[in-house]
Amino acid sequence: MPRPIQAFIDPSALTHNLSVVRQHAPKAHIMAVVKADAYGHGLLQAAHALKSADGFALLELNAAIALRDAGFKHPILLLEGFFSMEELAIFEQYQLSSVIHHPEQIAMLTTSGHRRLDLFVKINTGMNRLGLTPEQLPFIIDKLITLQCAKSITLMTHFACADDSKEKESVLRQLHCFKTVTHGHSFPHSLANSAAIIHYPETHTDWIRPGIMLYGASPTPDKTAAELNLKPAMTLSSKVISIQQLKAGDRVGYGGLFTADCAMRIGIVACGYADGYPRHAPTNTPVLINDRRTRTLGRVSMDMLAVDLTGIDDAGLNSPAILWGNGLSVDEVAQYAGTANYELLCALAPRVEKRLPQ
Ligand SMILES: Cc1ncc(COP(=O)(O)O)c(C=O)c1O
Repeated sequence: MPRPIQAFIDPSALTHNLSVVRQHAPKAHIMAVVKADAYGHGLLQAAHALKSADGFALLELNAAIALRDAGFKHPILLLEGFFSMEELAIFEQYQLSSVIHHPEQIAMLTTSGHRRLDLFVKINTGMNRLGLTPEQLPFIIDKLITLQCAKSITLMTHFACADDSKEKESVLRQLHCFKTVTHGHSFPHSLANSAAIIHYPETHTDWIRPGIMLYGASPTPDKTAAELNLKPAMTLSSKVISIQQLKAGDRVGYGGLFTADCAMRIGIVACGYADGYPRHAPTNTPVLINDRRTRTLGRVSMDMLAVDLTGIDDAGLNSPAILWGNGLSVDEVAQYAGTANYELLCALAPRVEKRLPQ
């Protein structure tokens, strides 16, 4: 029998979550964000389940080519654009759309002669990560138009704080900046990530760019995934591979971080940080054993973690464990571990087999 850890990927959940996005923004085109191997779910399987999206966005050139080679004819947007003249030729060959976020990219475009790309010109409206400054924008647009560098132009920005209801002012400030600098241009717009799709209908412009909500995780602390009618697309599951009977005072795992204060039965689950489970998840992080909710104990090690079997008398060797997914939201596990749902999903290790429904 192979090591029992597996990630079950549910394509119907992805398709369902895409339909939830459409209900929120029925008039917008959807650019499904499938970077980082579709947030850990497996690029091609995820793309098949999301094929009714209007386009895909990612930032790994080899993954974009893999989508084309698999027959996807959708617009495919590279969110960091091209990095060299050589890449530009590949963009043209595979008809990939590019974000333009730096004047250096315009220089490459004009000297390369590759002028038949769909371009998403990104404006830095306050996140200060990628994007042209509002001052650079008019010059860049003029240049693109006069030199006929683009097949089409879309104007885009990205919000820094759309997930946080206390940061409404920041989103509105970014939106105001975007409207001011794009005033007078008739190009389409692309603004919203998942959190903005949920919280800011005014950002549902021509192209929206949902990522995390497609995978069934909540983009905002204000609402659970279930409240948003999102279904988990990944269930990380394993089994109990050892049982230990502790006496009061016995300690568990590396560093002996957990000490039993009374006799108790614990299980050891085949899942550790080399599988993508967060090492910093503390004692009490929730886990399901035999579909019953319990907690982790002590430090997560590379290949295993310990769970409390108190009150789960029917649990024993080979009992199923769910680390996140159906019945236990990845959002909740992330919160206990002091990290983001994004990080847990993307960190799924290559050694964990991904399984699709038969
Ligand atoms: C430019 C851009 N758009 C959209 C997204 C999707 O964001 P989310 O997963 O929060 O929906 C990302 C993800 O980081 C991004 O970088």
